Amino acid sequence: MAAEPRKRAGRVVAVSGGKGGVGKSLVSLNLGVMLGRLGYKTTIIDCDLGAPNIHTLLGMTRPGPGLGGYLDHEVDSLIEVAIDAGTPNLRIIPGTSQPGAANINAGQKLRLLRAIAHLGGDVVIVDVGAGTAYNTVDLVAAADLKLVVMTPQLTSLQNAYTFLKACVQRSLRRLPDDTDARAVLEELLTGEGESRPVARAVAILRDEHGELADAVVDVLARFGVMLVGNMTTSDRDQVVFGRMTNMISDYLMIQAPLVATLPLCDAIRKSVDTRIPAALVDRPPEVVGALRGLARCVLDADVKRLRVAGRLKAAERTLPIWVERDLPAPR
Ligand SMILES: Nc1ncnc2c1ncn2[C@@H]1O[C@H](COP(=O)(O)OP(=O)(O)OP(=O)(O)O)[C@@H](O)[C@H]1O
Ligand SMILES: [Mg+2]
Repeated sequence: MAAEPRKRAGRVVAVSGGKGGVGKSLVSLNLGVMLGRLGYKTTIIDCDLGAPNIHTLLGMTRPGPGLGGYLDHEVDSLIEVAIDAGTPNLRIIPGTSQPGAANINAGQKLRLLRAIAHLGGDVVIVDVGAGTAYNTVDLVAAADLKLVVMTPQLTSLQNAYTFLKACVQRSLRRLPDDTDARAVLEELLTGEGESRPVARAVAILRDEHGELADAVVDVLARFGVMLVGNMTTSDRDQVVFGRMTNMISDYLMIQAPLVATLPLCDAIRKSVDTRIPAALVDRPPEVVGALRGLARCVLDADVKRLRVAGRLKAAERTLPIWVERDLPAPR
């Protein structure tokens, strides 16, 4: 285990992917285990609303009230439903499988986002479900860092891109201050504009709405995206993920480096049945190496630089987590 970690700003890391079954929960869990073993105080919150898995992957059958208890006001603060994961420096907030759990309303969502901002520690990992429901997109858009997990399969790549695009559009739509600017931006993001690279939309916007164009560029420059390739079977997969990085840069104006690749392997598949994370028991060198690299990237990300976007007047209405963090804790 590592020596006392260097002090860093706490960071919220969402683990997304758009598609179901690509490994979001396993990446969340094993990254959490790795960060904890390195000495960083880590919390995983299972925000796959209605279809939680994290507690199961840790062998827990009765995880207590969890996120559902918080959303139902059974407890006053989110931290009260956090439980020890049984591995160093890691706690989890189990999810909820109540019917309708995915359909939290705007008030519940805001309360949850604010509570996540107040969880404290070194790293908070937010595991989200598949799909592009706004509740999912907003949990990811509000995080400091957005990990996007994808496999080399076309359908995964397609859904990952679509998910990221949904995050971008959701964040940009909240920027304009006046109705005229909002209409212009809306026009650029929808209809024919949908297939237009964001850079071209920004160029058009700049003619009449220079300040808004600057705000758009600023938000995109601090979007904090990192790609994680999962279930790789050959070196060629790196090329495929590399193309995704290029496409995201070309069309969405976002830097999205590939920061880790995890092989398709028996140890990870088996860990679901044994309910003991691969990072804890089998520890195959390839997997451990990839997770360590991923942990480093998460820890080394300059979140203070990413959060400067929160100082923009218009961007404050996106209620990013770092804006909320300075407000009193939610009840
Ligand atoms: N690297 C891997 N090697 C082998 N099997 C894997 C690997 N990653 C994921 N799997 C398999 O894929 C399944 C789905 O993984 P996981 O539950 O993490 O996906 P998910 O993206 O969280 O799915 P959901 O969208 O349903 O939440 C696992 O049960 C496991 O069998
Ligand atoms: Mg999952």
